[in-house]
Amino acid sequence: MLRVRLGALADLPIDDLRAFTVAGVTWPVMAGVIAGEVIATAGVCPHEDVGLDGGEVADGCLTCPGHGYVFELRTGACRHDRSLTLRRYRARVIDGDVWIELV
Ligand code: FES
Repeated sequence: MLRVRLGALADLPIDDLRAFTVAGVTWPVMAGVIAGEVIATAGVCPHEDVGLDGGEVADGCLTCPGHGYVFELRTGACRHDRSLTLRRYRARVIDGDVWIELV
């Protein structure tokens, strides 16, 4: 398991996502507190290689700025194409910091 510190919990937006640069990861990791749960996802859409920074977050879902596919943040499921899943990273809060498991 490779666990990396994403940042302070206080730096995560509430009911929104922001991009965090992680050494060794090509696309920034998207993270935020969604409905009280720390969520961290890949920063690139599984449909095509479009960055998710700038996507719209609403009702626990992220809309990709590429073609508008909607992903449920709690599961990663895509509402437009069930064969697609947005990668989620397991996240833990330790002493006020958010850590994610990359593998
Ligand atoms: S690239 Fe995200 S929906 Fe197409």
